Amino acid sequence: MAEKFIVAKVGDVQNGQKKRVKAGNLFIMLAMVEDKYYAVQDACSHNKASLSAGYLHGHRIECGWHGAQFDLRTGEVKVLPAAKSLNIFQVEIDGENIIIVL
Ligand code: FES
Repeated sequence: MAEKFIVAKVGDVQNGQKKRVKAGNLFIMLAMVEDKYYAVQDACSHNKASLSAGYLHGHRIECGWHGAQFDLRTGEVKVLPAAKSLNIFQVEIDGENIIIVL
């Protein structure tokens, strides 16, 4: 069964920004691009670097360690050396709360 976690307040993350949040035991990178929130695992699939410490380019997140890039919308690898997609998570808004569904 899906579990929901309040991870931030609306306004904590603005367009073009990202933030590390925690949902249960999982670290997740929450980002906003073009007024929409995205949530992906905050661990690069190459060697587990925190992606929230990386660089956001539109809908892509670039890992700060070795430069892998992923599409936030799908988790898909766009630039090597990562070979495995990221887990992505559903984001919901309830009033001023940002909720991640696991
Ligand atoms: S840990 Fe992210 S590209 Fe190597």
